[in-house]
Amino acid sequence: MTDRHITVAIDGPSGAGKSTLARMSAKEFRLLYVDTGAIYRTVGLAAQRAGVGSRDAAGVIQLLPGLDIAMDYDRTGVQRMLLHGEDVSREIRTPLSSIYASDVSALPEVRAFLLEMQRRLAREHNVVMDGRDIGTVVLPDAGLKVFLTAGPEARARRRYRELTEKGTACTLEEVLRDIQYRDKNDSSRAAAPLRQAEDAVLLDTTDLSLEESAQALNTLIRERFGL
Ligand code: DC
Repeated sequence: MTDRHITVAIDGPSGAGKSTLARMSAKEFRLLYVDTGAIYRTVGLAAQRAGVGSRDAAGVIQLLPGLDIAMDYDRTGVQRMLLHGEDVSREIRTPLSSIYASDVSALPEVRAFLLEMQRRLAREHNVVMDGRDIGTVVLPDAGLKVFLTAGPEARARRRYRELTEKGTACTLEEVLRDIQYRDKNDSSRAAAPLRQAEDAVLLDTTDLSLEESAQALNTLIRERFGL
C-alpha cells in the first residue's frame, strides 16, 4: 500500500453508472465515496420545498444563505444528505428532484456555494468523488480522472432497472426523456458544463457488464496509485 494522498475524480453523464462503480472502488481501496450529485439534489429539494420554481434563478439564489446542508456517513458507510438536520437521502431521488437538481446546478452561485464543501472533503480524506465537473473544476489536480460514459439508451435501461427495483413508479420512456433533458442541460450550461477533462481517461461502458466496468476502473486506480 502507498501512503500517497488519493483523489479519484469520476465525471460523466446521468446514468453512466458513476455512483455504483465509484462505490465499488471506494470499498475495494478503502476510499471515501463522495456523491456530489446528492449535494446538488439537496439544494434542489430545498427549492422545491420552499415553493421556488426550478428555473427561478433569483428565488433559488435567495435561499442559499439560509441553507444548512450537511453530509455524513451511516454505520455501513452509506452517504446521507441532511437538510437542516433532516435526513433527505430518499427524498432527493425522485424524478422531480432530478430535474430540480439539474436546473439549480446550472447556476454559478449554487456551484460556488458548494465548491469549498467538496474540496474540503478531498483535502481531508482519500476520496473517489463523482459528479460532472470534478476533474475540470472541483479537483483539477486529482491523481486520477475518469470520464465514464455510455450511450443514452443503455443508461436509461440501467437507471430504469435501478428505480423500479427501489419501488419508484416510472416508465422506460420517462427515464430516457429525463436522461436526454439532463444531458442537454448539464452539457450546454455556461457554468462548469459536463465535459471530459483533457487529462481524463475515457471509460465507455455501453458494451461492458457491471463487473467488467468495475474491473476496468479498479485497474486504472491500482495502476495509477501503485496499489
Ligand atoms: O449525479 P446526479 O444525477 O445525482 O446529479 C444530479 C444533477 O446535479 C445533475 O443533473 C447535474 C448536477 N450535478 C452537477 O452539476 N455537478 C456535479 N458535480 C454533480 C451533479
